[in-house]
Amino acid sequence: MSNVKFGADAWDARFSGDGWAYGREPNRWLEERISPLTSGKGLFPGDGEGRNAVWAATKGWDAHVFDLSVEGQKKCVKLANENSVTVTYDVDDLETRDFSPQEYDLIACSWFHVPWSIFTTNYPRMLNSLKVGGHFITEGYHTSQIEMNSGGPTSLDLLWNLDEVMEVIGDGFEIVHAAVESTILDESDLHRGKANVVRIHLVKLN
Ligand SMILES: C[S@@+](CC[C@H](N)C(=O)[O-])C[C@H]1O[C@@H](n2cnc3c(N)ncnc32)[C@H](O)[C@@H]1O
Repeated sequence: MSNVKFGADAWDARFSGDGWAYGREPNRWLEERISPLTSGKGLFPGDGEGRNAVWAATKGWDAHVFDLSVEGQKKCVKLANENSVTVTYDVDDLETRDFSPQEYDLIACSWFHVPWSIFTTNYPRMLNSLKVGGHFITEGYHTSQIEMNSGGPTSLDLLWNLDEVMEVIGDGFEIVHAAVESTILDESDLHRGKANVVRIHLVKLN
């Protein structure tokens, strides 16, 4: 297994064009799960061009993003302006970001894959910033996606095994949903077709 870190330069290159790398619409799983929730303060880690955070802001959420990409930040500002909403977007790295405990009502991310050693050290730190009763909602690619051509990391080190992920992040949470699912993606040319995904929805217990 290689430990590939796709750095800020690569994400900037992806987001610097006129188009929208993953579309302008929110991720469908996040939209489905967030829509019934009462709005509050939400963190959208690794939100790239800001499609999830901007959509959430239109639904009344106080939406915050951190992401490595300056170009992603510019796109997010553009999308937010087009939707007459504001999103707070910090260009920042999961590995070095400080998280305050009990800050967010929601943490939601789509395709926020990082090398496994970074995941195990930093996802729990990040989730500790949820309030008691706060929601964590995510969609990521399953390890079996390595055989598919509908998007996602090309290294097993970044792909998710559900049991391993839950072992790292599940303590202290009610599991509302945690499953490996086969779905048809239609987000953009980068994420289109049959895909094997991990969908998780947790609520913080303590
Ligand atoms: C596949 S893109 C997904 C973007 C967005 N979540 C979406 O679904 O449209 C992954 C995003 O994670 C960000 N990212 C990767 N590693 C990161 C890190 N260590 N800290 C912060 N952001 C990171 C990238 O800059 C990129 O925007």
